[in-house]
Amino acid sequence: MAKTSKKEMEGEVYYPSEQVVTQARVKDWEALASKAEKDLEGFWEAEASELEWYKKWDKVLDRSNPPFFKWFVGARTNIVHNAIDRHLKTHRKNQLALIWESEDGKEERTFSYYAMNREVSRMANVIKSMGVKKGDRVTIYMGRIPEIAFAMLACAKIGAIHSVVFGGFSVDALQGRIDDSQSKLVITMDRSFNNGKVIPLKQTVDEALKRCPTVENVIVVKRVDEDIPMEAGRDHWYHDLLTLPIANGKCPTEELDAEDPLYILYTSGSTGKPKAILHTHGGYMVGTYATLKYVFDVQDEDRYWCAADPGWVTGHSYIVYGPLINGTTSFMFEGGPTYPYPNRWWQCIEKYGITILYTAPTAIRGLMRFGEAWPNKHDLSSLRLLGSVGEPINPEAWKWYHRVIGKEKCPIMDTWWQTETGMFMITPTPTVPLKPGSGTRPFFGQTAEIVDEEGKPVEDGNEGYLVLKNPWPSMLRTIYGDDERYVKQYWTKNPGKYTTGDSAKRDKDGYYWIIGRVDDVIKVSGHRLGTAEVESALVSHSAVAEAAAIGLPHEMKGQGIHCFVILRSGVAPSAELAEELRQHVAHSMGAIARPEEVKIIDKLPKTRSGKIMRRVLKARAQGLPEGDVSTLEE
Ligand code: WT7
Repeated sequence: MAKTSKKEMEGEVYYPSEQVVTQARVKDWEALASKAEKDLEGFWEAEASELEWYKKWDKVLDRSNPPFFKWFVGARTNIVHNAIDRHLKTHRKNQLALIWESEDGKEERTFSYYAMNREVSRMANVIKSMGVKKGDRVTIYMGRIPEIAFAMLACAKIGAIHSVVFGGFSVDALQGRIDDSQSKLVITMDRSFNNGKVIPLKQTVDEALKRCPTVENVIVVKRVDEDIPMEAGRDHWYHDLLTLPIANGKCPTEELDAEDPLYILYTSGSTGKPKAILHTHGGYMVGTYATLKYVFDVQDEDRYWCAADPGWVTGHSYIVYGPLINGTTSFMFEGGPTYPYPNRWWQCIEKYGITILYTAPTAIRGLMRFGEAWPNKHDLSSLRLLGSVGEPINPEAWKWYHRVIGKEKCPIMDTWWQTETGMFMITPTPTVPLKPGSGTRPFFGQTAEIVDEEGKPVEDGNEGYLVLKNPWPSMLRTIYGDDERYVKQYWTKNPGKYTTGDSAKRDKDGYYWIIGRVDDVIKVSGHRLGTAEVESALVSHSAVAEAAAIGLPHEMKGQGIHCFVILRSGVAPSAELAEELRQHVAHSMGAIARPEEVKIIDKLPKTRSGKIMRRVLKARAQGLPEGDVSTLEE
């Protein structure tokens, strides 16, 4: 009999099979959760003790200057020591760290932990030879190829701070992020592939660098056999650099303080330009290690596949760092799920014997659309666990994923978290009874609350703002270069608690149901975009005087972007112009930000102080009541 007793629960519940319980690392969720609740520091100290440190901490958690929490105070470490170096002394040395397949399926590359060390060390030596030192920022702008992971790890190894910009972003988004981070070096590639499309990454870098004076060097990884323009003195082919004596496979891992910065990652917030979320070596290392270990229960024999892009936090934590720290064998696929046919992922699962698949609701909905015949053509019996992330998963997609892909034997880990949290925050572990659409309960050591406008907890079943009560090791430390904004954005509305920016409900079983963002963040296919960025792309067009962007429900993407623009005087409205503006946003920000529609209008609803009331636009567009409009100018 399964250990989790079937107590009466509300709604539709999926209990773990006996096999899942037998296999699971955590058989008694309640016991571990209550242990962590009673002794937060003790829980995290035990996790940290499973890893290697150059010097251990004097204190697990320093709460003396909230919200500037410090973890593993006084400890010396480097995340690369635990991601790679420590495995070289064990049986893992010759085990596979990474399996990669090209979009067309014609190329396959594999790297043992030993080979990872060599590749990362070579790149680290190359970067060092370009004058990059501890604390310097390096922008990485690449597609899904092994070198993106090498580049991140190479920076970490020498103490440089990486700033990965998603390869689907375009020139203005890239330029803004390079400029804000003051990067000295950009690592990119000539072209990348995505769902059958060729993305000219280097060309975009060239355009962006016209306005980025801090960049001294560009390293270009060659992916295709074509000539592209290279600027003498600035641009260097990576394969040429690798022939230099300096590019050898030996590079010491820099000994760092646990609180030294590891990376920044830009994400969209309420207003203004994207924020650089800062993560550090020690705490982030422990957080990603423990969460992946418990939630996806990774074992040596697993073939783990996180199908996200390394350019988002999911890829940072659960393609690169978490899996390597756990000594896992990961699979990385260059392409998308449906090119050339909608069985591309199922082919990969069958070919490599993937045991864990972690993806986003938008991908599942996209695959569902093509029907069951595609997955049913393939042997998916190797799968034992599934995962979902990025946006709420609609129960229909959950059930399809569970039945058609998981054959009703694979629990689905619906993991709620954010760029800021660095690790899973609300998530089940494999034996937890599941409810389609709920991420269940907070991870060990965390307590969540749903509060009202005044910060008071609401009754179960009611909607409110989701806040987190405890610090956690992989929490963001600040917004890079803007401590004030960090405090204001996350810790001011609900003093002493972390404000997530999401609305949610809790049911009587203590399960959390995420509803969505309460700020001006739009979630397009799980990608986080800000209304401010879309609007500034629109007003950069000579025809536009003012713009507003909102997110509206979209069947496949979760949310789609809808824009309203006021033209400059003298510019005539036309359908062609509206279409041009859609393409303009895509060119400036990237195809993911292409609006569903651009509507040319005469007036925007504004408050008397001149702020655009997106809430009113949203309500009008959906034919819903406009709510409180007392602040609306007439
Ligand atoms: C926002 C954070 C963290 C990985 C990718 C997204 C939404 C994320 C879930 C989920 C419902 C989710 C929230 C959150 N979100 N995961 N499992 N269920 N909503 O990171 O780009 O920083 O976005 O994504 O709204 O605040 P991100």
